[in-house]
Amino acid sequence: MTTRLTPDGLRRIADEFSRSHSPGRVRGLLIAGSGLTLEVPGWEVGEVVAMGDLLPFPIRSLAGHDHTLTVWRRGVDSLLVMNGRFHLYQGYAQEEVVAPVRLAALLGAEVLIATNATGSLDPEVEAGSLVVVSDHLNLQGSNPLAGVWGPELGPQFPDMTEAYDPELRELAHRAAAAAGFTVHEGVYAAVLGPSFETPAEVRMLRQLGGAVVGMSTVPEVIAARHMGMRVLVLSLASNPAAGINQYPLSHEEVLAAGHEAADRLRDLVRRLVAVIFPES
Ligand code: HPA
Repeated sequence: MTTRLTPDGLRRIADEFSRSHSPGRVRGLLIAGSGLTLEVPGWEVGEVVAMGDLLPFPIRSLAGHDHTLTVWRRGVDSLLVMNGRFHLYQGYAQEEVVAPVRLAALLGAEVLIATNATGSLDPEVEAGSLVVVSDHLNLQGSNPLAGVWGPELGPQFPDMTEAYDPELRELAHRAAAAAGFTVHEGVYAAVLGPSFETPAEVRMLRQLGGAVVGMSTVPEVIAARHMGMRVLVLSLASNPAAGINQYPLSHEEVLAAGHEAADRLRDLVRRLVAVIFPES
Protein backbone atom coordinates (compact mmCIF):
# COMPACT_ATOMS: atom_id res chain seq x y z
CA MET A 1 0.00 0.00 0.00
CA THR A 2 1.39 3.41 -0.93
CA THR A 3 -0.90 5.60 1.22
CA ARG A 4 1.00 7.14 4.12
CA LEU A 5 -0.48 7.67 7.55
CA THR A 6 -0.93 11.43 7.31
CA PRO A 7 -4.15 13.43 7.80
CA ASP A 8 -4.67 13.47 4.01
CA GLY A 9 -3.74 9.80 3.71
CA LEU A 10 -6.32 8.93 6.34
CA ARG A 11 -8.96 10.98 4.53
CA ARG A 12 -8.21 8.98 1.38
CA ILE A 13 -8.51 5.71 3.35
CA ALA A 14 -11.90 6.90 4.68
CA ASP A 15 -13.07 7.76 1.13
CA GLU A 16 -11.91 4.38 -0.14
CA PHE A 17 -13.66 2.62 2.78
CA SER A 18 -16.91 4.48 1.96
CA ARG A 19 -16.64 3.50 -1.71
CA SER A 20 -15.92 -0.18 -1.08
CA HIS A 21 -18.22 -0.79 1.90
CA SER A 22 -21.02 1.79 1.56
CA PRO A 23 -21.43 1.95 5.35
CA GLY A 24 -24.36 4.40 5.15
CA ARG A 25 -24.75 6.45 8.32
CA VAL A 26 -21.85 5.39 10.60
CA ARG A 27 -23.21 5.87 14.12
CA GLY A 28 -20.31 4.79 16.28
CA LEU A 29 -17.16 2.79 16.91
CA LEU A 30 -16.92 -0.02 19.46
CA ILE A 31 -13.47 -1.16 20.57
CA ALA A 32 -13.06 -4.49 22.34
CA GLY A 33 -10.14 -4.85 24.75
CA SER A 34 -8.00 -7.82 25.82
CA GLY A 35 -9.86 -11.08 25.40
CA LEU A 36 -13.26 -9.41 25.05
CA THR A 37 -15.38 -10.15 22.01
CA LEU A 38 -18.34 -7.91 21.39
CA GLU A 39 -21.59 -8.80 19.70
CA VAL A 40 -24.31 -6.38 18.77
CA PRO A 41 -27.63 -8.20 18.42
CA GLY A 42 -30.21 -6.36 16.34
CA TRP A 43 -27.45 -5.40 13.97
CA GLU A 44 -26.50 -7.64 11.06
CA VAL A 45 -22.90 -8.67 10.71
CA GLY A 46 -21.48 -7.32 7.50
CA GLU A 47 -17.93 -7.39 6.25
CA VAL A 48 -15.01 -8.26 8.47
CA VAL A 49 -12.08 -6.18 7.29
CA ALA A 50 -8.53 -7.09 8.35
CA MET A 51 -6.85 -4.05 9.86
CA GLY A 52 -3.77 -4.89 7.83
CA ASP A 53 -5.78 -4.41 4.60
CA LEU A 54 -7.14 -1.08 5.80
CA LEU A 55 -4.27 0.74 7.44
CA PRO A 56 -0.85 1.52 5.98
CA PHE A 57 1.39 0.04 8.66
CA PRO A 58 2.40 -3.50 9.66
CA ILE A 59 0.11 -5.15 12.22
CA ARG A 60 1.81 -7.11 15.00
CA SER A 61 -0.35 -9.75 16.64
CA LEU A 62 -0.83 -10.32 20.38
CA ALA A 63 -2.66 -13.12 22.24
CA GLY A 64 -6.34 -12.18 22.62
CA HIS A 65 -6.28 -9.55 19.88
CA ASP A 66 -7.73 -10.21 16.41
CA HIS A 67 -7.26 -6.88 14.68
CA THR A 68 -10.35 -6.73 12.54
CA LEU A 69 -12.93 -4.08 11.87
CA THR A 70 -16.43 -5.47 11.42
CA VAL A 71 -19.22 -3.45 9.85
CA TRP A 72 -22.55 -4.07 11.56
CA ARG A 73 -25.64 -2.83 9.74
CA ARG A 74 -29.21 -1.93 10.63
CA GLY A 75 -31.06 -0.33 7.73
CA VAL A 76 -29.09 2.75 6.68
CA ASP A 77 -27.12 2.76 9.92
CA SER A 78 -23.83 1.06 10.61
CA LEU A 79 -21.60 0.48 13.60
CA LEU A 80 -17.90 -0.25 13.30
CA VAL A 81 -16.73 -2.92 15.73
CA MET A 82 -13.00 -3.18 16.25
CA ASN A 83 -11.63 -6.40 17.69
CA GLY A 84 -8.21 -5.95 19.16
CA ARG A 85 -6.44 -2.64 19.47
CA PHE A 86 -2.97 -1.23 18.98
CA HIS A 87 -0.87 -0.47 22.05
CA LEU A 88 1.97 1.99 22.48
CA TYR A 89 3.89 -0.72 24.35
CA GLN A 90 3.96 -2.85 21.19
CA GLY A 91 5.94 -0.10 19.53
CA TYR A 92 3.06 1.40 17.56
CA ALA A 93 3.26 5.17 17.11
CA GLN A 94 0.52 7.35 18.58
CA GLU A 95 -0.94 8.06 15.12
CA GLU A 96 -1.09 4.30 14.45
CA VAL A 97 -2.80 3.56 17.79
CA VAL A 98 -5.54 6.10 17.12
CA ALA A 99 -5.89 5.59 13.34
CA PRO A 100 -9.08 3.47 13.64
CA VAL A 101 -10.73 6.12 15.84
CA ARG A 102 -9.84 8.91 13.44
CA LEU A 103 -11.04 6.80 10.52
CA ALA A 104 -14.37 6.22 12.29
CA ALA A 105 -14.67 9.95 13.04
CA LEU A 106 -13.93 10.84 9.40
CA LEU A 107 -16.69 8.38 8.41
CA GLY A 108 -19.12 10.28 10.66
CA ALA A 109 -19.10 8.22 13.89
CA GLU A 110 -20.34 10.33 16.78
CA VAL A 111 -19.78 7.93 19.67
CA LEU A 112 -16.85 5.81 20.82
CA ILE A 113 -17.55 2.94 23.20
CA ALA A 114 -14.34 1.24 24.36
CA THR A 115 -13.75 -1.66 26.70
CA ASN A 116 -10.46 -2.61 28.28
CA ALA A 117 -8.85 -4.78 30.93
CA THR A 118 -7.28 -3.10 33.94
CA GLY A 119 -5.70 -3.74 37.29
CA SER A 120 -7.69 -2.50 40.25
CA LEU A 121 -6.01 0.11 42.45
CA ASP A 122 -8.95 0.30 44.82
CA PRO A 123 -9.57 -2.57 47.27
CA GLU A 124 -13.32 -1.96 46.86
CA VAL A 125 -13.10 -2.70 43.13
CA GLU A 126 -12.75 -6.47 43.25
CA ALA A 127 -11.29 -8.54 40.41
CA GLY A 128 -14.08 -9.24 37.94
CA SER A 129 -15.90 -5.93 38.57
CA LEU A 130 -16.84 -3.48 35.87
CA VAL A 131 -15.87 0.18 36.13
CA VAL A 132 -17.39 3.08 34.21
CA VAL A 133 -14.43 5.38 33.56
CA SER A 134 -15.12 8.94 34.72
CA ASP A 135 -11.76 10.55 33.88
CA HIS A 136 -8.15 9.63 33.19
CA LEU A 137 -4.55 10.27 34.18
CA ASN A 138 -2.36 10.23 31.07
CA LEU A 139 0.96 8.90 32.38
CA GLN A 140 2.02 7.36 29.06
CA GLY A 141 4.42 10.17 28.28
CA SER A 142 2.94 11.20 24.94
CA ASN A 143 -0.21 12.48 23.28
CA PRO A 144 -1.72 11.62 19.88
CA LEU A 145 -2.30 15.30 19.11
CA ALA A 146 1.38 16.24 19.27
CA GLY A 147 2.72 17.11 15.84
CA VAL A 148 0.72 17.75 12.69
CA TRP A 149 -2.42 15.88 13.70
CA GLY A 150 -3.71 18.32 16.31
CA PRO A 151 -4.28 21.40 14.16
CA GLU A 152 -5.20 19.34 11.04
CA LEU A 153 -8.17 17.39 12.35
CA GLY A 154 -9.59 19.52 15.16
CA PRO A 155 -8.71 22.17 17.72
CA GLN A 156 -5.06 22.24 18.78
CA PHE A 157 -5.96 22.49 22.47
CA PRO A 158 -9.18 20.50 22.93
CA ASP A 159 -11.01 20.75 26.23
CA MET A 160 -10.99 17.53 28.26
CA THR A 161 -13.26 18.61 31.12
CA GLU A 162 -15.97 16.11 30.29
CA ALA A 163 -13.98 13.72 28.15
CA TYR A 164 -16.06 10.81 29.48
CA ASP A 165 -19.60 11.80 28.58
CA PRO A 166 -21.69 12.23 31.76
CA GLU A 167 -24.92 11.24 30.00
CA LEU A 168 -23.41 8.03 28.57
CA ARG A 169 -21.97 7.19 32.00
CA GLU A 170 -25.41 7.61 33.54
CA LEU A 171 -26.88 5.35 30.86
CA ALA A 172 -24.23 2.73 31.72
CA HIS A 173 -25.20 2.78 35.40
CA ARG A 174 -28.89 2.48 34.52
CA ALA A 175 -28.28 -0.34 32.04
CA ALA A 176 -26.23 -2.24 34.64
CA ALA A 177 -28.95 -1.76 37.26
CA ALA A 178 -31.54 -3.05 34.79
CA ALA A 179 -29.33 -6.09 34.16
CA GLY A 180 -29.10 -6.70 37.91
CA PHE A 181 -25.49 -5.84 38.66
CA THR A 182 -23.67 -2.78 39.96
CA VAL A 183 -20.78 -1.08 38.30
CA HIS A 184 -18.15 1.11 39.92
CA GLU A 185 -17.08 4.46 38.57
CA GLY A 186 -13.57 5.89 38.70
CA VAL A 187 -10.41 7.29 37.17
CA TYR A 188 -8.34 5.26 34.68
CA ALA A 189 -4.60 5.71 35.17
CA ALA A 190 -2.86 5.04 31.85
CA VAL A 191 0.73 3.81 31.90
CA LEU A 192 2.92 2.75 28.99
CA GLY A 193 3.63 -0.84 30.08
CA PRO A 194 4.28 -3.55 29.09
CA SER A 195 5.76 -4.43 32.47
CA PHE A 196 3.09 -4.40 35.15
CA GLU A 197 3.46 -1.71 37.80
CA THR A 198 5.64 -2.10 40.85
CA PRO A 199 3.88 -2.01 44.24
CA ALA A 200 5.38 1.49 44.79
CA GLU A 201 3.90 2.67 41.47
CA VAL A 202 0.55 1.20 42.44
CA ARG A 203 0.61 3.17 45.72
CA MET A 204 1.49 6.32 43.76
CA LEU A 205 -1.34 5.82 41.23
CA ARG A 206 -3.79 5.22 44.05
CA GLN A 207 -2.66 8.44 45.76
CA LEU A 208 -3.10 10.31 42.49
CA GLY A 209 -6.74 9.28 42.48
CA GLY A 210 -6.71 6.30 40.11
CA ALA A 211 -9.29 3.56 40.58
CA VAL A 212 -7.86 1.29 37.86
CA VAL A 213 -4.63 1.11 35.88
CA GLY A 214 -4.21 0.07 32.26
CA MET A 215 -1.94 0.34 29.24
CA SER A 216 -4.38 1.46 26.54
CA THR A 217 -7.46 3.55 25.65
CA VAL A 218 -6.30 7.04 26.62
CA PRO A 219 -4.82 7.81 23.17
CA GLU A 220 -8.08 6.71 21.55
CA VAL A 221 -10.13 8.85 23.95
CA ILE A 222 -8.02 11.94 23.30
CA ALA A 223 -8.26 11.43 19.53
CA ALA A 224 -12.01 10.85 19.73
CA ARG A 225 -12.64 13.99 21.82
CA HIS A 226 -10.39 15.98 19.50
CA MET A 227 -12.71 15.09 16.62
CA GLY A 228 -15.87 15.73 18.62
CA MET A 229 -16.94 12.18 19.42
CA ARG A 230 -18.73 11.38 22.68
CA VAL A 231 -16.89 8.75 24.69
CA LEU A 232 -17.87 5.90 27.00
CA VAL A 233 -15.21 3.60 28.45
CA LEU A 234 -15.99 0.42 30.39
CA SER A 235 -13.11 -1.21 32.25
CA LEU A 236 -13.03 -4.74 33.44
CA ALA A 237 -10.90 -4.91 36.58
CA SER A 238 -9.31 -8.26 35.79
CA ASN A 239 -6.84 -8.39 38.69
CA PRO A 240 -5.82 -6.49 41.80
CA ALA A 241 -2.85 -4.29 40.77
CA ALA A 242 0.61 -5.36 41.99
CA GLY A 243 1.14 -5.34 45.73
CA ILE A 244 -2.59 -5.24 46.55
CA ASN A 245 -2.35 -8.96 47.15
CA GLN A 246 0.78 -11.07 47.36
CA TYR A 247 0.56 -12.87 44.00
CA PRO A 248 2.58 -11.96 40.90
CA LEU A 249 0.58 -10.83 37.82
CA SER A 250 0.39 -12.61 34.47
CA HIS A 251 -1.15 -11.86 31.06
CA GLU A 252 -2.91 -15.26 31.24
CA GLU A 253 -4.64 -14.21 34.49
CA VAL A 254 -5.82 -11.01 32.81
CA LEU A 255 -7.25 -12.98 29.85
CA ALA A 256 -8.91 -15.59 32.12
CA ALA A 257 -10.69 -12.95 34.22
CA GLY A 258 -11.74 -11.30 30.96
CA HIS A 259 -13.45 -14.51 29.85
CA GLU A 260 -15.25 -14.92 33.19
CA ALA A 261 -16.65 -11.40 33.34
CA ALA A 262 -17.17 -11.13 29.59
CA ASP A 263 -20.82 -12.20 29.83
CA ARG A 264 -21.69 -9.28 32.08
CA LEU A 265 -19.73 -6.86 29.94
CA ARG A 266 -21.35 -8.16 26.74
CA ASP A 267 -24.78 -7.86 28.34
CA LEU A 268 -24.01 -4.28 29.35
CA VAL A 269 -22.69 -3.31 25.92
CA ARG A 270 -25.71 -4.89 24.23
CA ARG A 271 -28.11 -2.91 26.40
CA LEU A 272 -26.11 0.27 25.90
CA VAL A 273 -26.00 -0.05 22.13
CA ALA A 274 -29.79 -0.35 22.16
CA VAL A 275 -30.26 2.89 24.13
CA ILE A 276 -27.39 4.92 22.66
CA PHE A 277 -28.28 4.12 19.04
CA PRO A 278 -32.08 3.89 18.95
CA GLU A 279 -33.65 3.14 15.61
CA SER A 280 -34.75 6.37 13.94
N1 HPA B 1 -1.78 -3.12 35.20
C1 HPA B 1 -1.79 -2.53 33.99
N2 HPA B 1 -2.56 -2.93 32.99
C2 HPA B 1 -3.36 -3.99 33.22
C3 HPA B 1 -3.39 -4.66 34.44
C4 HPA B 1 -2.55 -4.20 35.50
O1 HPA B 1 -2.53 -4.74 36.61
N3 HPA B 1 -4.30 -5.66 34.33
C5 HPA B 1 -4.80 -5.59 33.07
N4 HPA B 1 -4.24 -4.58 32.39
